[in-house]
Amino acid sequence: MTTVADSSDDEINPVTMLLLNQNDDLSEQKPEAVPTLVQHQTYHLNSVNSTVVIRQLPSQGLSFQLWPAATTFVKLLDSYNPSNTDSFSAAVTNAVTTVNCRKRLRILELGSGTGVVGIAASAILGADVTVTDLPHVLPNIKFNADVNASVVGPRGGGVHVAALSWGKVEEMEAVGREYDLIIGSDVVYHDNLYEPLIETLKFLLLGDGEKVFLMAHLRRWKKESGFFKKVKKWFRVDLVHEDGPSDGSRTGVVVYRFARKDAVFR
Ligand SMILES: C[S@@+](CC[C@H](N)C(=O)[O-])C[C@H]1O[C@@H](n2cnc3c(N)ncnc32)[C@H](O)[C@@H]1O
Repeated sequence: MTTVADSSDDEINPVTMLLLNQNDDLSEQKPEAVPTLVQHQTYHLNSVNSTVVIRQLPSQGLSFQLWPAATTFVKLLDSYNPSNTDSFSAAVTNAVTTVNCRKRLRILELGSGTGVVGIAASAILGADVTVTDLPHVLPNIKFNADVNASVVGPRGGGVHVAALSWGKVEEMEAVGREYDLIIGSDVVYHDNLYEPLIETLKFLLLGDGEKVFLMAHLRRWKKESGFFKKVKKWFRVDLVHEDGPSDGSRTGVVVYRFARKDAVFR
């Protein structure tokens, strides 16, 4: 996959990303209160020879921007091939093989932000992807899903947009558990979100079947180890991919696979 920014666009900046305010309260974001800055990022997906265009609204808050973990996730999906033996590809292949006689792979994305990962997954895997986030984020995701419908459609995929505020039982019930694969990028960054995210993962992964959650992550705060300590009480967590350090940072994006504690992987 290659990523090309329009001339008017800022590149994703790993340093800026490190300036994320720990005290941002996303539920307090009021998008209509600030002037809107619009940027577009294009992702050329080599595997399907198509280009996805993503609208960012950086002045509206962190939910409306692209984050490096998302770029890594898209890159890995774009390199996916069922004959690949790496752990990321194996997790995708496992999900693909559970589809059996059903027509399409069903994927749920948590904290989709701009929707880029879910949209790319749908285009590349021909999957039915439900992209979710907090309610105020959904109009921009819907915009991006609509703009890219002509890329996703010919591959047999479909993108559905739904509210899923982590830990909100009625929204979790409405979205349901009927998915083959759960995905997310850059969703661990604020300690008051750890418990609601873990509750959501318990709802999604600890029912029937052997589903996994693939999560791309760029470590920002030392306190994130608290999330991994808590989550390991409930899940087996394996590292399935590691990028080298990004510019201006000592760390790079990693991808973890979360599964039930008794899951066995070859
Ligand atoms: C750092 S952004 C990452 C966005 C996108 N996944 C990416 O990598 O570009 C974190 C995302 O988690 C979402 N989020 C934060 N709190 C949430 C909650 N309680 N329930 C659902 N989504 C939440 C935000 O709205 C935002 O889109």
